[in-house]
Amino acid sequence: MDKDEKGRKAKGKEELPKARISSGIIGLDEVIEGGLRDHAVTIILGASGTGKSTLAMQYILEGLDRGEQGLYITLDVKPEQLIKESILWGWDRLQQHIDKELFFFETTGSDFKAIIEDQLPRLVEARKKYETPTRIAIDPLTPIIWAEKDKSVQRELINKLFVMMKEIGTVVATVEEHGQSTGEDGLGASIPIFLSDSAIHLRYQPIGGAFNRTLEIVKMRGTRHGEEVSL
Ligand SMILES: Nc1ncnc2c1ncn2[C@@H]1O[C@H](COP(=O)(O)OP(=O)(O)OP(=O)(O)O)[C@@H](O)[C@H]1O
Ligand SMILES: [Mg+2]
Repeated sequence: MDKDEKGRKAKGKEELPKARISSGIIGLDEVIEGGLRDHAVTIILGASGTGKSTLAMQYILEGLDRGEQGLYITLDVKPEQLIKESILWGWDRLQQHIDKELFFFETTGSDFKAIIEDQLPRLVEARKKYETPTRIAIDPLTPIIWAEKDKSVQRELINKLFVMMKEIGTVVATVEEHGQSTGEDGLGASIPIFLSDSAIHLRYQPIGGAFNRTLEIVKMRGTRHGEEVSL
């Protein structure tokens, strides 16, 4: 809680809404009071192919269009693949921003402890001098969950990652869903969801003979949100 926030609480005034970041996703901003919360972490949960990376890239592109910067951290996906998909969507303009306003951080191997405790802090330190708002995508976050069997270590690493990235921007992190992975079955997305400020669930399923894409707000701290949006 900052000083202003304490002041407002002390005077019994209603807390003012925090700044909102337009997601770039049609229909989403309207149901979450204008957009994602500034310097927060939003989890995008969904099975493979539900559109998590597409949403993450759309969010980054929206920022680039607004003169912001983008940092795309990929844990097991090649940036080239993401760029190729974006071009298929007609987002060619993304290319002109690469290494200028859009930076990819591609990790190799699976020593996430070293990545989170050594490599990323150096990157964050270097980026602190930039004043331009930064949108961050971590896509996917799932390898960290799978690589670390010990739940307490998993929790500590993910928490460190979120706290660190929130210092320099507004974060969207994707989590792959397998079966009942939101539950306590060990494959779980429960830790990242618990540690996040917000969570959105993407689904791609047959409804009445046609395949429909839907987006459901699972959690949105400090927001009175609607629940489901058709994409
Ligand atoms: N809103 C959408 N409308 C139509 N097609 C979409 C939408 N979002 C994604 N797609 C298409 O669905 C396919 C899968 O999308 P995407 O790669 O974003 O999924 P993903 O959830 O990241 O999958 P994975 O878990 O395998 O990485 C792509 O071909 C993409 O173009
Ligand atoms: Mg993906």
